[in-house]
Amino acid sequence: MEFIDLFCGCGMFTEGMKQSGHKAVLGIDNWKVACQSYEANHCETLCENILNIDVSTLPKTELIIGSPPCQKFSLINQKKGNRTEDDTLIKKYIEIIEVLKPRFWIMEEVPRAIHYVPISWQKQILQVNHYGGIHIRKRLYAGKFPLVLAPCIKKHKTATPTNFDKLGKLNNPRNFGDKKLIMKYFGRKPTLKETMELMGLTEDYKLCGSNREKYQQIGNGVYVPLVKTLGEAMLQKASLPPKPKDLGIREAI
Ligand SMILES: C[S@@+](CC[C@H](N)C(=O)[O-])C[C@H]1O[C@@H](n2cnc3c(N)ncnc32)[C@H](O)[C@@H]1O
Repeated sequence: MEFIDLFCGCGMFTEGMKQSGHKAVLGIDNWKVACQSYEANHCETLCENILNIDVSTLPKTELIIGSPPCQKFSLINQKKGNRTEDDTLIKKYIEIIEVLKPRFWIMEEVPRAIHYVPISWQKQILQVNHYGGIHIRKRLYAGKFPLVLAPCIKKHKTATPTNFDKLGKLNNPRNFGDKKLIMKYFGRKPTLKETMELMGLTEDYKLCGSNREKYQQIGNGVYVPLVKTLGEAMLQKASLPPKPKDLGIREAI
């Protein structure tokens, strides 16, 4: 299915969907280097504040994905005394869905954001270590998409040069770029290649900007293999014939 990626960052959500067989037609983000990375790996971007975009000018696709930024919702941010929860960008995402009416859509967010998502949307909290990752990072997936089961619920044990098992403590993506915190838990800063690997990216994935910006782009991103699982389930669902309504069978999505 063709799709638009809202708040596309460097394109890790898109990468997972592409790996499962979907096709990106547009990414939207207001961060220039992230747009450059996205374009180097995927397709064109609209590098603008999404709040200024006239939704009716966007291409109509069967699928829309996107991760509105989560800092305003994260517990770490709340502990720092910032109690304002700003759902403006989530509201924009919802507006886009309501106007474009895609067949499927997925929003990725921190679990706390569940209170800001329409009640009628399907919601699943998924965590990275159930999909082959070695860190916990729980995230809310909301929208209209087939529910998925975790393929492996065993915590991955990996012997690595650094102590990656403690990465669960680095649940806030921004912390991937925080040298002090990384040093505290790992003893050394993971290389860019190791950080990419942690998030399911291969070394040949292109990242633009300074070294710090590259870490930040990866830290902002979704775990690629988890998204690939969601994309595969969606393709499978899309290729099934519609269920006869008169049999009283409840739709799976
Ligand atoms: C959580 S990150 C997205 C990561 C991306 N889904 C990935 O997997 O690589 C959120 C993104 O929203 C972008 N953003 C924040 N405010 C925005 C706005 N007003 N308009 C457009 N993009 C915005 C940020 O630059 C950031 O790249």
